[in-house]
Amino acid sequence: MLTLERVGAAYGLSRVLSEISLSVGRGELVTLLGRNGAGKSTLLRTIAGLHPAAAGRVIFAGADITGLVPYERARRGIGYVPQGRGIFPHLTVRENLRLGLAARFGRGEGRNARLPDHVFDLFPVLARLSERKGGLLSGGEQQQLAIARALATKPALLLLDEPTEGLQPSIVQDIQAALKRIRRELNVAMLLVEQYLDFAWSVADRFYVIQRGSMATEGNTRERAADTVAHLLSV
Ligand SMILES: Nc1ncnc2c1ncn2[C@@H]1O[C@H](COP(=O)(O)OP(=O)(O)OP(=O)(O)O)[C@@H](O)[C@H]1O
Ligand SMILES: [Mg+2]
Repeated sequence: MLTLERVGAAYGLSRVLSEISLSVGRGELVTLLGRNGAGKSTLLRTIAGLHPAAAGRVIFAGADITGLVPYERARRGIGYVPQGRGIFPHLTVRENLRLGLAARFGRGEGRNARLPDHVFDLFPVLARLSERKGGLLSGGEQQQLAIARALATKPALLLLDEPTEGLQPSIVQDIQAALKRIRRELNVAMLLVEQYLDFAWSVADRFYVIQRGSMATEGNTRERAADTVAHLLSV
């Protein structure tokens, strides 16, 4: 479904990713690991179209999307949940969710498009808090809102950048359960950037580890123990 072919990325003259090749199959859950500053967020942004690829190709559903702008990628089925969640604090939960629709359908159509029922089914708390301002939600609620907003576009692939960052363990479990349901019930493939190895191993089929912008190793989480990659993550 998603294939990266030797993708590179840079900020100005400073190259941060080189020769990154990876794939995510239909309905597959793949985790992307690496130390702080390794280039994980840059890679997700490059896939979402928010950062230009300096080299290589991004293939999605059989088409080369390397040159497409973000909303065109959203329309083709790529949902993105940024690191730090990207909630609009002064907009209500409902308004934040509607922006998700606008990302896919454009402003006009987005106004009339309906939020999929499964969004509230997966995250009932959002129905209860729908008129509350995003900035007043707890960290866990904001993360649920960020995932729900991306799901509103009915993606085939969800890019998740550290969804458990800064959350207490019980909330992390809720997020874990939600990701498993999203995958099982909606058949959405995911590329999940994570800090916590245990979490990554508990949900992912395969893993990639990037180190200083290059691919260090990859494998299957059923065949490799998590501790065989721990040295690539700890400082
Ligand atoms: N807007 C920017 N301008 C210049 N350099 C940047 C910018 N954003 C990130 N970088 C640099 O690019 C490198 C990769 O950053 P990136 O945010 O992709 O890492 P990361 O793996 O997501 O890290 P973390 O685990 O801390 O989120 C880092 O050296 C970072 O300082
Ligand atoms: Mg990051």
